[in-house]
Amino acid sequence: MASPTVSIDNAKCVLVIGATSGIGRALALAIAELPSRPTVIAAGRRQDRLDELKAKKLETVQIDVAADLTTLKKTVDSLVAQYPDLDAVMFASGIQYQQDFTKEVDLTQVAREINVNYLAVVSLISMFLPHFLKLSADGRPSFIMPVSSGLGLMPSNYVPNYSASKAALTSFAISLRKQLAATNVKILEIIPPLVESELHDEQGTTGHLSNFWMPLDEYTERTMGGLRKGDTRIASGTAEKVLKRYQDAGLCDIYPIPV
Ligand SMILES: NC(=O)c1ccc[n+]([C@@H]2O[C@H](COP(=O)([O-])OP(=O)(O)OC[C@H]3O[C@@H](n4cnc5c(N)ncnc54)[C@H](OP(=O)(O)O)[C@@H]3O)[C@@H](O)[C@H]2O)c1
Repeated sequence: MASPTVSIDNAKCVLVIGATSGIGRALALAIAELPSRPTVIAAGRRQDRLDELKAKKLETVQIDVAADLTTLKKTVDSLVAQYPDLDAVMFASGIQYQQDFTKEVDLTQVAREINVNYLAVVSLISMFLPHFLKLSADGRPSFIMPVSSGLGLMPSNYVPNYSASKAALTSFAISLRKQLAATNVKILEIIPPLVESELHDEQGTTGHLSNFWMPLDEYTERTMGGLRKGDTRIASGTAEKVLKRYQDAGLCDIYPIPV
């Protein structure tokens, strides 16, 4: 008999980091509406946005993922103490900058982008894992949901460092899934295409990109479908097409020789 699907429907308490706008906000609200009615904790920096989500009955916590490691660890410890049922974390926080390396590039921006999009996610995953491994030992599933990007699989020269940060996240997710294969900790990688959000506002490209992006409602519905099926990689639109080429080429595999 096939084993029952383990999916977001099994989650009791879901933390969404980067829930104050765009993809994270939409998915946090959709997850809160699941028939299983999990507790959803919305996180981000902007308190006014968190207050708005509190009014919609979500739990909230202010987190700046660019904070130092001691602060991040304190935040994780206090979340786990306050929400012992916490069994899912989505990393939807992200920033994007355009860079033209034929001209002078702001290297502090490059470092910030790598820190927020990659290093902070890896650090937080490492801090949440002891709790998730305890749940696993008790036979309970848990979910780590990094939000990468189709641009991690096929980069855009307009956002070279952003694309590289997302490629790093995808690579890390593949290795982490392999390391956790014998546990009940599931890695569900969310791989969006260009989607309606605030991500491009700072670069002034939102108007132009809105001609091509996937509407947020459509994206949310498709992604919730993948999360509810327990899909390992949840891609849609152009990202789904690129992922298929990537998978067909065997690039989601693990290097076969121990190093
Ligand atoms: N939209 C797209 O076309 C697209 C495509 C592929 C992948 N993605 C990825 O999808 C994820 C969601 O992005 P989005 O498109 O929904 O953009 P968005 O509307 O700009 O949302 C970004 C979220 O990240 C949070 N964030 C940024 N810096 C943070 C920090 N230092 N600490 C904590 N939270 C922080 C923001 O909250 P605060 O400002 O309140 O902190 C906000 O909630 C990102 O990882 C992005 O790279 C987006």
